[in-house]
Amino acid sequence: MRDLKTIPVDKFIEEALYNKKTGYYFSKDPFGKDGDFITSPGISFLFSEMIAIWIIYFWEMIGKPKNFSFVELGPGDGRLCKTLLNTFEKFPQFKNSTKIYLYEKSEKLIKIQKKNLKGQKISWIKNFKTLKNCPAIFFGNEFFDAIPIKQFKKKNNEIYEKYFKFKEKKFLKTVYKKVSSSMLQELGKYGILKFDGIFEYPKSGLKELALVSKKIKSVGGGLLLVDYGFLGQNNVSTLQSVKKHKKNMIFDNIGKADITYLVNFDLLKNFLKIQNLNVNNVVSQSFFLKRVGIIKRAGILSNKMSFKEKSDLYYRLQRLLDPKQMGQLFKVICAYKSKKKISLGFK
Ligand SMILES: C[S@@+](CC[C@H](N)C(=O)[O-])C[C@H]1O[C@@H](n2cnc3c(N)ncnc32)[C@H](O)[C@@H]1O
Repeated sequence: MRDLKTIPVDKFIEEALYNKKTGYYFSKDPFGKDGDFITSPGISFLFSEMIAIWIIYFWEMIGKPKNFSFVELGPGDGRLCKTLLNTFEKFPQFKNSTKIYLYEKSEKLIKIQKKNLKGQKISWIKNFKTLKNCPAIFFGNEFFDAIPIKQFKKKNNEIYEKYFKFKEKKFLKTVYKKVSSSMLQELGKYGILKFDGIFEYPKSGLKELALVSKKIKSVGGGLLLVDYGFLGQNNVSTLQSVKKHKKNMIFDNIGKADITYLVNFDLLKNFLKIQNLNVNNVVSQSFFLKRVGIIKRAGILSNKMSFKEKSDLYYRLQRLLDPKQMGQLFKVICAYKSKKKISLGFK
């Protein structure tokens, strides 16, 4: 790590995760049992199958366009995409209409994705300008929580931004600096300034979503995001670092451990509404997956399975659905441009 001096929280996360030489996502494969964390596509292929079914449903709802784009945001090791492609094979009309794009920032992960998806017709993109001029669905699992956030503190009606001060590459202390009037104005848009205490603002993440929304408004389509997060107010720091499947202190192992935070889904909803998209009520991962049909699908598959395979399938399903595991903490949001109501998976 280079000497960082005094930098805002988002710049620190950017350096730790995305420095092209030393950043976490640029230097290692973090996924799976031997990595640092496991995500839903790695827990069970059933998760990815439900996403595939939902995407096909969405395409049908908007009138089965002959040209359609699927864009995965932050595809990790490409595991979800692999299952999607297998599922799409069973729906030839959809498959023949759809072009697949992967939007990935890390060169290291692009290499891993290319290896895991060898022989498939996929385009890797760095911006959305290259997409064809046809409706598009954007999907991201744990994409948003991997984009650096800013942190602020509200005290006596004043807003301060949080900075980390380093000396000789070692974390020294946290400092707060009063925000500029333009930042204050920006923060005022989303209803997050109501209470005293710490609050988080995903400036870079919203920039990404603004680009996605702009594309959807121009070509039609929608956005489906799954992430772990909360609804309502949460005036604490939710930053956390994970290494080898265990919590890690943020300043230990910089560049060698993941750093994430809990996504504020109310803020996302407000933001997407301001972009003039239709936004569904946010639901839990468990609600979404059950509504799309995960339990029925598991039942059909398990009919032909041995006892051992069956218990593995249901153990993994439990991890995705149990409210004490991923079922409740993970949430799903959908925004779209269409006259028809997109309701599968939502309330
Ligand atoms: C926590 S991982 C999730 C990976 C995968 N979706 C999964 O569920 O296993 C976050 C992914 O988003 C990518 N990413 C983060 N910020 C990005 C950005 N601004 N543009 C494109 N990809 C980004 C990361 O490199 C990584 O592939």
